[in-house]
Amino acid sequence: MEPPALLLWLLVSRLGARTCGQGVAASRPRSAPFLNNSLFAGALYRHLQARTPGHNVLFSPLGAALPLTLLGLLAAPEPRAQLLRGLGWVRVGAPMGDADLATYSRPLHALLAPGCGPQTRTRTRSALFVDQRRFLRPHFVQVAASLFLMDVVPVSLSGYDAARGQVGAYLSERPYGGLGLSVRMLIRAVSPDWAFHLANYAAFAGKWQFLFNSSHTESHPFWLTEESMVMVPTMQRLGDFQIKRDQHLHSHILRLPFSCGAFAIFILPDSGHFKEAELAVMADPLSMSTQSLPRSRYRLFLPKFSLNGTAQMDQLLPAVGISEIFRHRMGIRGISVQTSPMRLFKVAHGAGLAIEEDGVQVEDLSYLENQAGLSFPLIHFNRPFLVMVLEETNTNVLFLGKLMNPLVGTASWEQST
Ligand SMILES: *[C@@H]1O[C@H](CO)[C@@H](O)[C@H](O)[C@H]1NC(C)=O
Ligand SMILES: *[C@@H]1O[C@H](CO)[C@@H](O)[C@H](O)[C@H]1NC(C)=O
Ligand SMILES: *[C@@H]1O[C@H](CO)[C@@H](O)[C@H](O)[C@H]1NC(C)=O
Repeated sequence: MEPPALLLWLLVSRLGARTCGQGVAASRPRSAPFLNNSLFAGALYRHLQARTPGHNVLFSPLGAALPLTLLGLLAAPEPRAQLLRGLGWVRVGAPMGDADLATYSRPLHALLAPGCGPQTRTRTRSALFVDQRRFLRPHFVQVAASLFLMDVVPVSLSGYDAARGQVGAYLSERPYGGLGLSVRMLIRAVSPDWAFHLANYAAFAGKWQFLFNSSHTESHPFWLTEESMVMVPTMQRLGDFQIKRDQHLHSHILRLPFSCGAFAIFILPDSGHFKEAELAVMADPLSMSTQSLPRSRYRLFLPKFSLNGTAQMDQLLPAVGISEIFRHRMGIRGISVQTSPMRLFKVAHGAGLAIEEDGVQVEDLSYLENQAGLSFPLIHFNRPFLVMVLEETNTNVLFLGKLMNPLVGTASWEQST
């Protein structure tokens, strides 16, 4: 029997708090995408919402792709191709060895930290916990650190309590330790044939291109159902928004740009029509963002909220067609000096999204002075809605989720065993 090895991955991508040039970030030239995770994101959403019906959902298909891509590149050809295609990689060539790692990680980094030049302030952090009886390949440790910004932390797997203590201690010393992934979820089942464990986290707290004035944020009702409501802090601002009414989906679709490199899409279904919008998102989330959204002047009311989600990905990935990587004979090599392959056993994923007032500039509506007395239509996100964050090239979903109740931030799905 192969020696047990525990491997945990933590990725923290803080996209945001960036200060970049004024105005709309210049879009980069469109080239054929190398990664298109629309189908991956939609399929994951479908399975997650089915497992936590009626609850908030949030995950980061792009954040999860970073460590999973690394695992895929270290796996045998069959699971490698299945995993990389499943994640949305468009061209999956034959393995080329270690050079692959840079080829795949650089563009992913660019997507996770949308390009805003030297002023970009992105914090990305990962951690990798490995059974201390595995002797790590120095080259792997170096590549993990330089290309995946990942700490490699040996842990003792002599028992559940020891592993839990070491992992817990590591997490609690890091700023992202409290961000949502439970140690319990990561290391619940230490057992002899337990080979390999991955966890990953992505968090977003971007600044809007145009700020919301926080002195206008007030408590407003949010209707959980047609009968019950909660009071939530609600931001508001008058602006020229890219917004459209989609009759087919019985929804309003709003596009709100972050300061650079990313934008949010909010889909607000009419009361009683959530399912139609959700089905469209499951089928192809990017189709929501590629439609043209005309600019019109609205008064926007949007709850100020944070949404955290965790998911046990080892159950979800096979459901979306990524199963080979979990088979023993498909084991992963190249991490340790020992050549026996390691098996991916459990994968945990966490994501966090904070929607707040911060922005880099005030939208100039000065010519409104001539229109004093005019009233503008209201758009009020005062009932459940869908939210996604996309990168500007528009071929990848950074975050996808839904807000059913702004006062319950953490949606988590774990197998109940
Ligand atoms: C990405 O994939 C989706 C789903 O297959 C497709 O509808 C969309 O056109 C693709 N986008 C690009 C830019 O290739
Ligand atoms: C925010 O609103 C307050 C009250 O209306 C106003 O005095 C202040 O100037 C506004 N701040 C900005 C940045 O527009
Ligand atoms: C989500 O996680 C962040 C970071 O730990 C925390 O500040 C925030 O309060 C959490 N939100 C909710 C609603 O749990």
